[in-house]
Amino acid sequence: MTPDAQAAHRAFLDRYYRLTHHVYDATRKYFLFGRDGVLDRLLASDWTTLVEIGPGTGRNLARIHRRRPTATLGGLEASDVMRAHARRRCPWARIDAGFAEDGDIGAVLGAPPQRILMSYCLSMFTDKGRAIDNARRHLAPGGELWVVDFADLNGLRAMRRFLSAFHVEAVPDDLLHRHGASHVSHGPLRYFVVARFTA
Ligand SMILES: C[S@@+](CC[C@H](N)C(=O)[O-])C[C@H]1O[C@@H](n2cnc3c(N)ncnc32)[C@H](O)[C@@H]1O
Repeated sequence: MTPDAQAAHRAFLDRYYRLTHHVYDATRKYFLFGRDGVLDRLLASDWTTLVEIGPGTGRNLARIHRRRPTATLGGLEASDVMRAHARRRCPWARIDAGFAEDGDIGAVLGAPPQRILMSYCLSMFTDKGRAIDNARRHLAPGGELWVVDFADLNGLRAMRRFLSAFHVEAVPDDLLHRHGASHVSHGPLRYFVVARFTA
């Protein structure tokens, strides 16, 4: 991704979220399914450090913090508007500015995190494969990357058209497998996909 392409992507995100961030959490609970299931699975194992890529409003980080208050949490966020919002909501987390595709995820908490979370953000990335590779590279030894996102939306053509208007593109299984997923499963109607990767 060239610096110009990154600047254009950030400008799009800031325009979009400046208009929608007040109602973001209230509306997204109706279509960002599967997030809480992934948080349950993440929290079923022992770890102390986690970075969320594209934390948005900080909704997931706040839930993780409530359930594991001793964990050290961070984020890497491309949109200045969303970063400011997440920082206000999660003052105990360190949220850096940067892009999933080439951001220094290891620098967010000062050391490679044991867990990385991508929740409904891979579908927005310009280069999804590069973002997965970058996250895996920055994991601590024995660490895990967890992804939850729109799957191929089997049969939901209208939804696919709606998403593409917002620069959102479903995440195909073969991309996840090509980039080393060790586990891939789907929600009802293949609406969402959950994938786990190891370091
Ligand atoms: C649909 S929101 C999801 C927010 C949150 N993860 C959740 O589950 O509610 C996608 C987030 O990814 C961020 N984002 C989009 N492209 C990005 C990129 N290339 N690098 C980092 N963050 C990005 C957006 O600014 C936004 O905050």
